[in-house]
Amino acid sequence: MPAVVPLAAAHALHVLVEAAAFRAGQTVFVNGSGDILGLFLAQLVRTLNGEVFVSVSSQEERYLLMKDYHIPANRIFNQLNPASWTSDIFAAADGEGLGIMINNTMTGSTVRSLSTSVKSGGCSVDVTQKVAPSILDPTVFERGITLSFLNLSALPDSELSTLFDKTLHLAQTDASIRCTLSRWLLSLNCHISDSTSPTRGIMPDPVVIEYPQNATVPLLPSPPPPLYLKPEGTYILAGGLRALGLTTANTLCAHGARHLVFLSRSGASSLRQQETLRSLYEHGCAVDVVRCDVTNAEQFLNHHCVMRRSNLEVMQYRKEKETRHDDM
Ligand SMILES: *[C@@H]1O[C@H](CO)[C@@H](O)[C@H](O)[C@H]1NC(C)=O
Ligand SMILES: *[C@@H]1O[C@H](CO)[C@@H](O)[C@H](O)[C@H]1NC(C)=O
Ligand SMILES: *[C@@H]1O[C@H](CO)[C@@H](O)[C@H](O)[C@H]1NC(C)=O
Ligand SMILES: *[C@@H]1O[C@H](CO)[C@@H](O)[C@H](O)[C@H]1NC(C)=O
Repeated sequence: MPAVVPLAAAHALHVLVEAAAFRAGQTVFVNGSGDILGLFLAQLVRTLNGEVFVSVSSQEERYLLMKDYHIPANRIFNQLNPASWTSDIFAAADGEGLGIMINNTMTGSTVRSLSTSVKSGGCSVDVTQKVAPSILDPTVFERGITLSFLNLSALPDSELSTLFDKTLHLAQTDASIRCTLSRWLLSLNCHISDSTSPTRGIMPDPVVIEYPQNATVPLLPSPPPPLYLKPEGTYILAGGLRALGLTTANTLCAHGARHLVFLSRSGASSLRQQETLRSLYEHGCAVDVVRCDVTNAEQFLNHHCVMRRSNLEVMQYRKEKETRHDDM
């Protein structure tokens, strides 16, 4: 369980969730992803199921983002050559423009791209503290783009402590926000002890880590794609009527399986087995229990032939079996 709360992660949460009001599925462009805040932002967008585009200022940063963060090359732009961005970002964001643009670079002077890259009603957050709103293209306002200019150093302690809580919670529930490098360690309790805010809701002894600007944030592997099982397939569980098998059957059914065949020596006799089979059936899953000892080759091959036929035939087989059962 991570007992650390990186300051930059708390800042990223503030920028993305509080200032930009991010929602899952939005496209976010982080201008300047090479530093610690940029890396956390990129990671957070992905953790919260958004589409992230980034810019970097060196080949090393580009390589890091591709290799460790699995960000596709066509989503990484060169900060030092922003001329082609507008059209590239536009194309990458499906011609719609960006939902959110986060400016995290200390250099550059082009502000026009903002008005053409962000979609109407979108949002721009600037954390550089260098941009005077007066230099912005007025069309930005005409198109209803929300602008926020943040000074992260000026976040009040009370707000920071809430952010630490939220970040810690995210790290604990999601295990997606991680970091290893550290330069300064501060105890959170000590950090907020001079503040006037009460220390409510604080986990016991969490530690705040402040990272140097050029630290890297290791990313956990992306979660696997959701399990999708073909409804027309037949899924066979050998010996599947015990606890593990029944749990597996429920999982298969929940992920789209619509026909399960259990191979079992003794059949479904217990109450739990019958209840589970009934519940699977009620959830739209056809269920067959075939009495068969999988360690007996002859028996198995016999049933194996039956199950290799099309699903329809298997259903037919089940019907025949039921009829035979009824006849008995
Ligand atoms: C992004 O950063 C580059 C280089 O630092 C700068 O020239 C450019 O204006 C920035 N772009 C936006 C849209 O903020
Ligand atoms: C991003 O910040 C840089 C440096 O402060 C500034 O030059 C640039 O114009 C900003 N971009 C936007 C779109 O505000
Ligand atoms: C940002 O906040 C810090 C701390 O309050 C302050 O020292 C600094 O001057 C502020 N920066 C700007 C540009 O206002
Ligand atoms: C990171 O920054 C520190 C201080 O600014 C510098 O000494 C160090 O060489 C930098 N490390 C990398 C990998 O750039």
